[in-house]
Amino acid sequence: MKKNYSNIFSLCEKIIRKTVDSLRLGKIVALPTETVYGLAGNAYSLKALKTIYKLKKRPKKNPLIIHYCNLKMAKNDVLLNDNFIKLYKKFCPGPITFVLKKNRKSKIKSLANANLETVAIRFPNHKVIRSILKKINFPLAMPSANISSNLSPVSALDVFDEFKNKINIIINGGKSKVGIESTVVDLTAKPRILRPGIITSKNLKRFISINHTRKNFEIKSPGLLKKHYSPGIPVILNKKPNNINYAFIILGKKYKMQSNYFNLSKKADLKEAASNLYKTMRKIKKSGYKKIYVMRIPNIGPGVAINDRLKKASK
Ligand code: TXA
Ligand code: MG
Repeated sequence: MKKNYSNIFSLCEKIIRKTVDSLRLGKIVALPTETVYGLAGNAYSLKALKTIYKLKKRPKKNPLIIHYCNLKMAKNDVLLNDNFIKLYKKFCPGPITFVLKKNRKSKIKSLANANLETVAIRFPNHKVIRSILKKINFPLAMPSANISSNLSPVSALDVFDEFKNKINIIINGGKSKVGIESTVVDLTAKPRILRPGIITSKNLKRFISINHTRKNFEIKSPGLLKKHYSPGIPVILNKKPNNINYAFIILGKKYKMQSNYFNLSKKADLKEAASNLYKTMRKIKKSGYKKIYVMRIPNIGPGVAINDRLKKASK
């Protein structure tokens, strides 16, 4: 029987209005983006920010990404620089986040950026979030809509899975196309990737030079320290299971399909594989498997982001 979810809505004028009203009151809503679904709240409202951290059970030292419709409003909150402008022109709106120096005049509450002197900003590319952003005069703090350390949601039902009825509005915008979180690039010094994503270092290197040293990596992106992206069952990497009660995540045509095998991309397309990663791990967990084994994934292009998430899921 099809279940009725009283807090999942599709996009229409009425729900846009209701969502905007909620955000103005400092309430939290869940919105789709092209990467993953997010928990959105007014970045200028302490009440909204406190609710986000509480709902997610997120450590306060892990800063949030602030989302904008365009440059005009972002300028109030961060100091733009040449590298940023180059990447903005090329990739925005899109699945990339920029760490920049915070503008002294910014109204972003320091809880949003964990008291740092920097702020991470992003211009998401999805018609739902963009239609909301166009109607408000404040930016949205928006972490992925999952309890801290769980898998990020890529559909409205995934969000419901995480929070049930604790959120009044979840807007259904279909499956998130990219399927993993945005690339985070620190532009406050020599550019450095803090979190790999579908926009790869090779993509960025066409426009700016990238620093590859991993020194200070953890300190720079505090949220990346701990176990993360966990499906809630053990994840074992680069190994085949010897038991059909364990799921096996595969790629390409190396293995013949079996009932406990889950193929991320039959064409071995790493972009497609990234887009199916969380969806597949969530499905495996829900089907009752006790462990997830994963074959070796090539560490090139979007494979770098896949391996980053898998490695953290396996901790
Ligand atoms: O694709 C995405 O980026 C999604 C969608 C919803 O937009 N959002 C997302 O947010 O993944 P979240 O909170 O799950 O991850 C934010 C990451 C964390 O690793 C955090 O440490 C890093 O961005 N971050 C945020 N502000 C930062 C800052 N000022 N300096 C360094 N890292 C920062
Ligand atoms: Mg997250």
